[in-house]
Parts: sequence; C-alpha cells; structure tokens
Amino acid sequence: MPDNASVSHVESVRDAALAELAAADTAEQIEAWRIAWLGRRGRLTQVLRGVGGLSPDERRSVGSAANRVKSLLEQARAERQDAVARAKSDADDFTDAIDVTLPGWPTPVGGLHPTTQMIREICDAFGSMGFDVVEGPEVEWDLYNFEMLNIPKGHAARDMWATLWVDQPDEDDDYPMLMRTQTSPMQIRTMQERKPPIRVIVPGKCYRYEATDATHEWHFYQVEGLAVDRGITFADLKGTLYEFARRIFGEERQVRFRCDYFPFVEPGVDMSISNFKDPQTGKRPINRDEDWIEILGAGMVHPKVLEGVGLDPQIYTGFAFGMGPERISMLKYGIEDIRLFYSNDLRFLNQF
Ligand code: PHE
Repeated sequence: MPDNASVSHVESVRDAALAELAAADTAEQIEAWRIAWLGRRGRLTQVLRGVGGLSPDERRSVGSAANRVKSLLEQARAERQDAVARAKSDADDFTDAIDVTLPGWPTPVGGLHPTTQMIREICDAFGSMGFDVVEGPEVEWDLYNFEMLNIPKGHAARDMWATLWVDQPDEDDDYPMLMRTQTSPMQIRTMQERKPPIRVIVPGKCYRYEATDATHEWHFYQVEGLAVDRGITFADLKGTLYEFARRIFGEERQVRFRCDYFPFVEPGVDMSISNFKDPQTGKRPINRDEDWIEILGAGMVHPKVLEGVGLDPQIYTGFAFGMGPERISMLKYGIEDIRLFYSNDLRFLNQF
C-alpha cells in the first residue's frame, strides 16, 4: 500500500495545506496555494486519484477522508480569501483617508486683543497694589456721568465730553440717559456702594460723539482708579501712579505732574512719562520728538463729589485717575493710528 493511501496521510496533507494557507496574505498567494493543493496536479488531487487503486475497504475510508479534506480546504480557501480582501480594503480606506506624510492643517488659535492685554497689564499692576477690579454700565445716567461729578447742566465743562445721548436732554427730563463718555461715573457708583477704605480700578468702554482720526476713536476704553480713605494725600496719588508708570514703561522712566482741570478733582493734574534721548544712541524710548508724554488725568476727589455721596470731606479724602489703555499701547508699541485697534485687520492684530 503506497504511503499516500492512508487516512493518516490524508490528515497530514490537510494539516500541511492549512498551515500554508494561513501564511498566504495576498490573493496571488492564495491562488498559488489552490493550484498547489487543489489544482489538477495538486497534492490532494493526487491523493484522490490514488484512491481508485486501493482495496475496497481502504477506498471507502481513505476516499471519504480525502473528500472531506477537499471540501474543508475549499471552504478554508474561501474564508481566507474574504479575510485577505477585507484587510486590504480597510488598509486602502485608511491610506486614502490619512496621508500621514502630509503636514497637518494648522489650527488657528486666537489671541487676546491688544487692548485686552493692556487692560490686564494695568489691572495687574494696580491689583498688586491692593486695588479691586470692578465694572459698570456703558449706558449711563447723566446724573452719574456729569451731575454728581460736579458738572451740572449747562456747565461749560460739558464741552470736554462730546456726548452720545440715548434720550435727548430737555428741560423737564431730570434723568437723561447717555453712552458714558468716561469711566468716572463709576467713582460715584462705587462710593455709593462701598464704605471707605475704597481702592478700585475700573476698566470699561466709553463713547464720544466725535469724528475719528489717528488719535480719536468714537469708542475706546478707559481705566479709572479711585482710592478713598481717611488721610489720603496727594503724595499717595503720586506714589501710586509713579509705581504704575515704572511697571508699564520700565524702571528708568521718570514721571511729571502738571496742573490740569477736571471738574471732579481739586487739584487736578495730568501725568506724563519721560521720553528723553539716550545720550549714547540719541534715540528716545518712544519714537516721538518730545521729552515728556502725557498718559493720564488725575487729581484729589473734589469735596463736592464726596459730599454728594454722603462722605464728609473733613474726614475723608481720596484720589482718582483715568487713562486710555489704547493710548498707552500706542506709546509702548509705537502704534500710530488708534483706529487700527478696532478695524479687525489681522495683519495688525496678529502682531500681538
Ligand atoms: N475722566 C477723565 C477724562 O475722561 C479723566 C480723569 C479721571 C481725570 C479721573 C481725573 C480723574 O478725561
């Protein structure tokens, strides 16, 4: 009896065929496998052919074993073909969807607006000196924006603030409404709400009925400051603002105070920072041909303003100041036109 005519030989053919099939990873390899085992001269085909020459008993047992192995191998081939095809199409999908060699899409990450950055810098400087940050309404009563700041109706000083009215004021209207022209009304609101010692800083948007140009916007920000307590003097105002100027503009800068007029302070001043030529380079810190550059208005809170909110000016004193963060950015970064801040030009904004 030839060796290939036993049931155990059929089984070893089966095991060898299945092992080889498991290693076939492509349609071509599977086809080669089919020809090698199930083809006309395939190894299993030869076993089947040999069955004819066996004794009737062997023919039955070996023949049926070989036939079972044949259908088993055909089924195994079909399954292997499916599996290989599926793996290939998954791989194709994956390579179509993601080309890992391409650079990624840049995700644009927004930044803080330069005004926001400057406001934060200012608030941080005063925050570390003990000031609280508070905010108030942009639509304001005439009462707070003017009246209680010692600027009565008809007072010439109202001309300092070209006003956008929400209701036109008339004779009978005691409480006309406006877009606040300054953050100073928050001095009044704060003194009505808090008891001394008061130390607040108020960033916020202001509006003026003005034509725009390189140094004027019709809407802009201010940062107001207010300190009220017993025994506050002009020296406190100077010390606080001096410290602030050094933090924003650097250790080397000097400050200068000059008299200025605001109806709600007495005395009133403006403060400038030094912009001297460097003796070596001949350059100025801020590229403007001036030795002093004005950055804010300030003064001691007017006794009438204190009285108006029920504080006795014999007991309490205070100082207030107000500045424009855009103007401070313009000085610090050499920006020449205030309108750049609010024209949404990314070429400008991206630089911050
Ligand atoms: N509110 C004033 C302005 O807009 C600035 C200022 C504030 C002056 C506080 C003195 C004290 O011009």
